[in-house]
Amino acid sequence: MKSLYYILFLIIFSSRYFFIICQNVPSPRREQTSTLVGTKLYFFGGNISPTLPSNEVWYLDLSSSFNISTPPWHSSTVMPVGYNFGTSCLSPIDNSTVFLVGGRTWIANTFDYSNISSVYQFNSKTSQWTIPAINNFNSSFLSRNMIQAVIDKNGKMFIFGGTNFISLTVTPNSTFYNDMNTLDISTMTWSTQIQSQSVLIYYAYTATLLSNGLIVYIGGRRGSSYANMAQIQTFDTKSYTWSTKFASGTTIASRGSHSAVLTQDGNIIIYGGSTDDSSGKLSYVLSDIAVLNTNSWVWTVPSISGINAPPLTEHSAALYKNYMILGFGN
Ligand SMILES: *[C@@H]1O[C@H](CO)[C@@H](O)[C@H](O)[C@H]1NC(C)=O
Repeated sequence: MKSLYYILFLIIFSSRYFFIICQNVPSPRREQTSTLVGTKLYFFGGNISPTLPSNEVWYLDLSSSFNISTPPWHSSTVMPVGYNFGTSCLSPIDNSTVFLVGGRTWIANTFDYSNISSVYQFNSKTSQWTIPAINNFNSSFLSRNMIQAVIDKNGKMFIFGGTNFISLTVTPNSTFYNDMNTLDISTMTWSTQIQSQSVLIYYAYTATLLSNGLIVYIGGRRGSSYANMAQIQTFDTKSYTWSTKFASGTTIASRGSHSAVLTQDGNIIIYGGSTDDSSGKLSYVLSDIAVLNTNSWVWTVPSISGINAPPLTEHSAALYKNYMILGFGN
């Protein structure tokens, strides 16, 4: 627990004008996905302000210290599509290939929806993109987004629920799901588990895989209804069964599009997120930090020193050593 008090929060961008005057820095964006590969923290795609789906790939090299006002950005090979609201995982087999699954995919820098593939593969050693062939792909997963995948140490990705809503001008819109899709990257085989148990539909949640094989789904929404932060759905990747954990401690406000990281001592730290009003417009953006102990299932709110974190949603987060790094957002 003690290490929590030393976690520093780096907000990678905090001012708009900064990006206009500097070269080789990404413009503000939200809804990107990010993955840590060794010491490189990659950010894939995102919706560039005000609204343009980006195919850009940026990374920060965390191997040496830097001034967070001037992060040392590097760009990499662009994605084959503009990309937002997707999810990415690092292969535990080679520790260098990143798999991007689902998401909204577009002809880059346009609002022309493109439905080429639900899976993209990025080789971070050669900076090359490929579209892998997948056995037994479930076509009902096409255009699935607002999801977060986790991958186990054998290379099986688990992707829960999501929505196929793309935009008001793209059909179909919109179905919400509570199925569990898996992609085994060692055989590139897809499988879908239709829930036999009572499992609530959610999207815009966070998913965190614990070392005991349990995936913890925090927050998220189904339409205008948000998940109760004290009743947490968990999925056991060994038995393929769902259960609900009843969390005590501090009452945490419901939210979607927040971020979560797992600390070395088994705590999940969440940050930010938002709720919409009844017309679907962003109405409230949170700036709080909360910690879920996954042994006792107790929520606490740590006291944080230094600069207050800003309200932030549709950002992404990664844990590097004792730093929770938050990138971009709305
Ligand atoms: C970081 O960069 C900002 C802006 O250039 C500067 O004002 C500040 O002094 C720098 N901090 C350190 C510790 O170098």
